[in-house]
Amino acid sequence: MSRFIALASGKGGVGRTSLTFNLGVAMSLFNEKIVMLDFDLVMANMDIIAGLLNPEATLHDVLVRDKSIEDCIYEINQGVNVVPTGIHFETLKNINPNYISWNKIMSEVSQYGDTFLMDLPAGINSNVFEGIPRDTEIILVTNSTMPAVADTLKLKIFFKEFNLKISGFVLNMWYDDKFLLSANEIKSILEVPMLGCIPYDREMERSMALGKSVVEINPSSPISNAIMQLAAGLLGKYYKPIEPDKKGIIKRLKKFVGLP
Ligand SMILES: Nc1ncnc2c1ncn2[C@@H]1O[C@H](COP(=O)(O)OP(=O)(O)OP(=O)(O)O)[C@@H](O)[C@H]1O
Ligand SMILES: [Mg+2]
Repeated sequence: MSRFIALASGKGGVGRTSLTFNLGVAMSLFNEKIVMLDFDLVMANMDIIAGLLNPEATLHDVLVRDKSIEDCIYEINQGVNVVPTGIHFETLKNINPNYISWNKIMSEVSQYGDTFLMDLPAGINSNVFEGIPRDTEIILVTNSTMPAVADTLKLKIFFKEFNLKISGFVLNMWYDDKFLLSANEIKSILEVPMLGCIPYDREMERSMALGKSVVEINPSSPISNAIMQLAAGLLGKYYKPIEPDKKGIIKRLKKFVGLP
């Protein structure tokens, strides 16, 4: 049976798309067949983050009825498929949100995987939200700043009114700072479970520059372990964090200074 998970955020720039992409790759490492869909129809960037440069066909082409899902689904890794969205405003102008047949799109796409991760646009966007399947699990993504958490709370209320199920929130870009909200404070504001806490780590930027996921580029980094842990939790599986290879580093250092 298909499982639909949507990542949503009140504010933009909290790392929703990077998390969707990395979570998808992480889940595929547990042998899940993943399809990620970029539902950010206006400010799409899943293509860039997934290392897909100028994809020939995108969800925009499906929405203007020029192409089918089959034409715009790209397998980027074994078991990891991406349905990107275009960035051409010209095509966007031809999309009438009232005529989008989300049911048809989702039923077409469902044959390509088991788990579907949807990157929703930031804020409230009823046209897109109406299209997501009713049994979608919503994951709220926030950082620890007060405005982001306040907007996440608004979004939570909105989704509840929309009768969509909220699984919990992921605290992204976390670092310890007395001026930011703590994980516990955010938990008590949002009143939904915390599914994961992903640290702020420049490795995310490095992996993006390489067009890869951080879980592939640096699996023993704290950020990768946190994303793998999140994936395992969502799948009900066990994950043992990968320790950095300190012994290897010490051995190499010794060799460098001429010690046995
Ligand atoms: N945990 C993290 N640590 C450090 N940098 C991060 C982390 N998560 C995301 N980033 C960086 O933050 C930037 C914004 O991320 P991203 O584009 O995924 O945000 P977004 O919420 O999807 O934004 P938008 O709403 O504009 O689509 C990216 O450059 C990304 O590399
Ligand atoms: Mg994004």
